[in-house]
Amino acid sequence: MHPELIKLEKTFQQSILTKINDSWLEQYQIELWMKRDDLLHPVISGNKWRKLKYILDQALSVGSDTLISMGGAYSNHLHALAYVGKLLGLKTIGLVRGEQPDVLTATLQDMNDWGMELRYISRSDYRLLRQYKHYQSLPDIKPGQYWLPEGGAQALALNGVAELVEEIKIPYTLMCVPCGTGTTLAGLIDAVPEGISVLGIAALKNAEFLTAEVAARLSQSRNNWQINFNYHFGGFAKSNANLSAFIEDFEVKNLIPLESVYTGKMMYALYELIKKGHFKPGECIIALHTGGLQGRRGCGSSTIPISQKVRDAHSK
Ligand SMILES: Cc1ncc(COP(=O)(O)O)c(C=O)c1O
Repeated sequence: MHPELIKLEKTFQQSILTKINDSWLEQYQIELWMKRDDLLHPVISGNKWRKLKYILDQALSVGSDTLISMGGAYSNHLHALAYVGKLLGLKTIGLVRGEQPDVLTATLQDMNDWGMELRYISRSDYRLLRQYKHYQSLPDIKPGQYWLPEGGAQALALNGVAELVEEIKIPYTLMCVPCGTGTTLAGLIDAVPEGISVLGIAALKNAEFLTAEVAARLSQSRNNWQINFNYHFGGFAKSNANLSAFIEDFEVKNLIPLESVYTGKMMYALYELIKKGHFKPGECIIALHTGGLQGRRGCGSSTIPISQKVRDAHSK
């Protein structure tokens, strides 16, 4: 590991396991925990650090001076990349989907402030960029430039995800994770011990293609996993009053902030599936908090400020 990355990781907080003590869980004999990757770092939080760690290591080891990647105007991935690029003294370029907005989103404003060069790409050209996976595969890539596909969906991302599984020291039966590109899910499937299942909750509508994509990312074929496609709430970054109310209620009861694009949908899905008797009594579920809380500043139709109580709980 590059010394700069070791130094950076030493500044991170621990990703603890928090038990969800909602009393109704007892009647279903389900134990529910959250692995708090949201606590790792205020910006490079959740699955961002897990996915970027070994990609950044490769970028540094091949002598790259510029990181280029793609994402939307609220992208957690570009946001974390801009920040980490600044910390590591690397130039960053963000290929942003769609027209430049009249007023930058808070996410784009941060990226701009951290020195990322923002290039706005038409939606059709953006879709074409999805075919480039390898770090040198982007057409017209210049020497010193390192390309990361959407969401950091690269084979090396799985190595960092495996590390979070190694940190879990309690016995459990199932891990649950929200899915965008399915890279984090693939990392979990690869890394969980024999006998443990993994459930992905798709954040996108019509995301059935993910099953084949995730299977293709695995280092070996495994039958310990499944993706649930029923909790997209109308599509990527779409929300509704039920989801917003759930997030607020969860936050008040557990002092854990969620957002409506990924983690809110995952926890909503888990609660509903538990209540429908989807899981066997005695299961111990670990839900991965994949971070993304910066997106609460405007992504999705619900924007709920994180309450002071939750902030206080986090500053302890
Ligand atoms: C907060 C958050 N959770 C979950 C995901 C989904 O991760 P993946 O693209 O690896 O499926 C993302 C996107 O990277 C994200 O930003």
